[in-house]
Amino acid sequence: MSKPKTYWIRTFGCQMNEHDSERLAGLLEVQGYRKVATPDLADVAVFNTCAIRENADNRLYGNLGHIKAVKDVNPDLKVVVGGCLAEKDRETIVRKAPWVDVVMGTRNIEALPDLLQRVEEQGIPVVEFSETLNVFPSALPARRDNRFHAWVAIQYGCNNACTFCIVPSVRGHEDSRRIGDILGEVKQLCADGVIEVTLLGQNVNSYGRDIYSKPKFADLLLSLDGIEGLERVRYTSPHPKDFREPVARAMAESKVVCEHLHLPLQSGSSRVLKSMKRSYSREKFLDKVAMAREIIPGLALTTDIIVGFPGETEEDFEQTMSLVEQVRFDGAFTFQYSPRPGTVAATMQDQVPKEVVTERFNRLADLQHRISLECNQQHVGEIVEVLVEGPSKKDPDKLTGRTRTNKLVHFTDRELVGAGASPARVNPGVAGGLGRLNAAIGVSSAVAAAPAIVGQGEFRTLEIISASPSHMEGRLLE
Ligand code: 5AD
Ligand code: SF4
Repeated sequence: MSKPKTYWIRTFGCQMNEHDSERLAGLLEVQGYRKVATPDLADVAVFNTCAIRENADNRLYGNLGHIKAVKDVNPDLKVVVGGCLAEKDRETIVRKAPWVDVVMGTRNIEALPDLLQRVEEQGIPVVEFSETLNVFPSALPARRDNRFHAWVAIQYGCNNACTFCIVPSVRGHEDSRRIGDILGEVKQLCADGVIEVTLLGQNVNSYGRDIYSKPKFADLLLSLDGIEGLERVRYTSPHPKDFREPVARAMAESKVVCEHLHLPLQSGSSRVLKSMKRSYSREKFLDKVAMAREIIPGLALTTDIIVGFPGETEEDFEQTMSLVEQVRFDGAFTFQYSPRPGTVAATMQDQVPKEVVTERFNRLADLQHRISLECNQQHVGEIVEVLVEGPSKKDPDKLTGRTRTNKLVHFTDRELVGAGASPARVNPGVAGGLGRLNAAIGVSSAVAAAPAIVGQGEFRTLEIISASPSHMEGRLLE
């Protein structure tokens, strides 16, 4: 019997890329490929790239340098580059790294097996991009690493033009998927054992506008309620300008949609927001936060903030600091502004000097650190339900679970006591056929299951006993 072919995938960037990588893996598995942990064991090595921040280019070409050494040892290795950086650099990639075999766009994921075959037949690199989205990647078979959680893309591309952002130029305009297709996928996923889905889109609040002539995100959220087996729904990312009451009401009304809103602020200064073309002011953002908090009880709020956008003065930055102090986000992803070639902001005058950006960035990080700690400390003594993700990355003698509000809680579990568990250890309760997880093998039954991870996908009730800025510690109650 011939040895099965193997693949290795490295994913950079956002959840949409993780979602696409799961489809690339699924397509390869359907072709009989098996996943391996390192590229030197692989017949196909895939880099699914991100272009959103600086260094992405350097990192890609650095990685391609490493993979060349692997290919020197195994000349049959096929190297594939996909994702946003592939969209941005296209032919340049094979010029700079002629050992790359396939460069492919984000709108033709389904073509991977054909492209590999073409390389095999023709013996020269293939560069393939599509301007239109013929197949929503969600419709493709997936090889999920997590048996209970699935990413579900509801929309591709973005119609906005935030001046710092490379996404519209690499991912194209918005294309929404039909509600029926999304519900069909979620039902199938749940029948296969998934209990939590995260809906993905670049600007989910405008979901549906292109195909139904009005936004339908609130309707979509409500229609997910009642799908058998579905326990939790998350989504990312909304745009503050389009986040309106119907969506907040749908979040409050739905039993499955979690009480967590990630609302990217970017800056607390109306002047900077205008220059970013975000279409909302500081005051509007504060109004949206107040509205969401009023409508959705127990809401946790997180955000993205860019420090050092061109022209940002100390006063502008103080506005960001004061807004952060006022809103008290549960958490924030903070970024130093990075000029992306091809974006409007990259050509703006008044780029802020690096040392000023770093100094502001550190001040903001310290502030958010303190606020995150205080937010988490407020929960000490509360009883919470968590969905277990697996052994804690820091301490394998503990499990990590997530609250509906997206907070991580580490705790000592009866299943782990004295077991010396490692993340790959199979939980006999799961592998032995108990519960919903047993059937979880991805969208297509042709695709192999991810290995079972101890505790993963089970609920636990905990008392919160201590808090840090990044997580909380809990005590098992049942
Ligand atoms: N520089 C820094 N941060 C950026 N982001 C997007 N583009 C840039 C850039 N050029 C951040 C934004 C966005 C998040 C996904 O990445 O905060 O919300
Ligand atoms: Fe980029 Fe703005 Fe679109 Fe988000 S909404 S992807 S930041 S252009």
